Amino acid sequence: MEHSSYLFTSMLLVLVMVFNVVNGQPLVPALFIFGDSVVDAGNNNNLDTVVKANFPPYGRDFQNHIPTGRFCNGKLATDFTAENLGFTSYPPAYLNLKTKGQNLLNGSNFASASSGYYEATAKLYHAIPLSQQLEHYQESQNVLVSIVGRSNASSIISGAIHLISAGNSDFIQNYYINPLLYKVYTADQFSDILLQNFANFIKNLYALGARRIGVTTLPPMGCLPAAITLFGYGSNECVARLNNDALNFNKKLNTTTQGLQKLLPGLKLVPFDIYQPLYDLVTKPSENGFFEARKACCGTGLLETAILCNKKSIGTCANASEYVFWDGFHPSETANKILADDLLVAGISLIS
Ligand SMILES: *[C@@H]1O[C@H](CO)[C@@H](O)[C@H](O)[C@H]1NC(C)=O
Ligand SMILES: *[C@@H]1O[C@H](CO)[C@@H](O)[C@H](O)[C@H]1NC(C)=O
Ligand SMILES: *[C@@H]1O[C@H](CO)[C@@H](O)[C@H](O)[C@H]1NC(C)=O
Ligand SMILES: *[C@@H]1O[C@H](CO)[C@@H](O)[C@H](O)[C@H]1NC(C)=O
Repeated sequence: MEHSSYLFTSMLLVLVMVFNVVNGQPLVPALFIFGDSVVDAGNNNNLDTVVKANFPPYGRDFQNHIPTGRFCNGKLATDFTAENLGFTSYPPAYLNLKTKGQNLLNGSNFASASSGYYEATAKLYHAIPLSQQLEHYQESQNVLVSIVGRSNASSIISGAIHLISAGNSDFIQNYYINPLLYKVYTADQFSDILLQNFANFIKNLYALGARRIGVTTLPPMGCLPAAITLFGYGSNECVARLNNDALNFNKKLNTTTQGLQKLLPGLKLVPFDIYQPLYDLVTKPSENGFFEARKACCGTGLLETAILCNKKSIGTCANASEYVFWDGFHPSETANKILADDLLVAGISLIS
């Protein structure tokens, strides 16, 4: 897009947002979220898994300082996205809904930490695979139909934004540590398998009526503090191999989304690049107002996540806003805010 028209669209979007927020009317009817721990809002809380975040210090900067199961000190990027779209509440974790029904009207969150495009990754950690997240989505559509009727439900579905974050766990929690995968497939071949599953997932969502879908790229996996510790052979630098794998995957993701967009009429499918914005924060922290990008806030900041990041972890920082990463694998709320602002600009075509 030309720079001036891009600027114009951005300004227009801001005006539309202000107008809608003033009117108390969100820009889209609903927001549905799928994928992994980057966007999980508490679906793992009641599962028989060790991959949870529903205890302090998780959530210490969230509303009422309550740990919800989000892998963050505060809000996720998708929470900011919900706010940017004009919602006054976040899509609730599907498995934690006390009363389903009306709660589902503005969308819901099906994501599960340690899930991914590769079904076996979720199974390894007793998380909810994408295939089952899709079943939950289907259940929630049935509830929607029972509340507002078939025709209103289908316009909610087709107008709603669907966001997917996946692939991180497939690499970091499975491929890189699993000889049954890394001895059999190159990272490039494994990416192809993941993208095949991604394409099928999009086709299934489309068949269920979804028309506006955003998918995040892989982050610079080699710069995640725990990845440097685990795969960096004692170096303090981002692990180039992992970053290259992420870039290669992202390139293929881009091509795959373009193919799907051509194949499926009326589909808006937008890749959200989180690689570059996060890489910029990691490599130029002080330019972005951060003090620390190598170590995470929680514990020693070198490794801790999930149960290892807890009240007794020694060394947890006082002010997470100064850190790019909250725990060994997940950005802090402040970093998430910056990522969400980038998503907003990239996502204009999903809203218009
Ligand atoms: C849906 O969103 C609108 C606008 O934010 C809000 O007024 C309404 O209460 C929400 N409904 C539910 C069930 O959260
Ligand atoms: C469906 O939407 C129409 C128009 O917004 C509204 O008047 C009607 O009450 C809705 N139907 C149900 C069952 O909610
Ligand atoms: C994806 O492809 C588009 C069009 O070819 C290009 O403009 C964009 O920079 C690509 N994005 C990434 C992350 O490679
Ligand atoms: C935390 O750090 C941020 C960024 O440096 C700063 O703006 C804020 O005032 C700090 N908060 C406290 C409570 O010190």
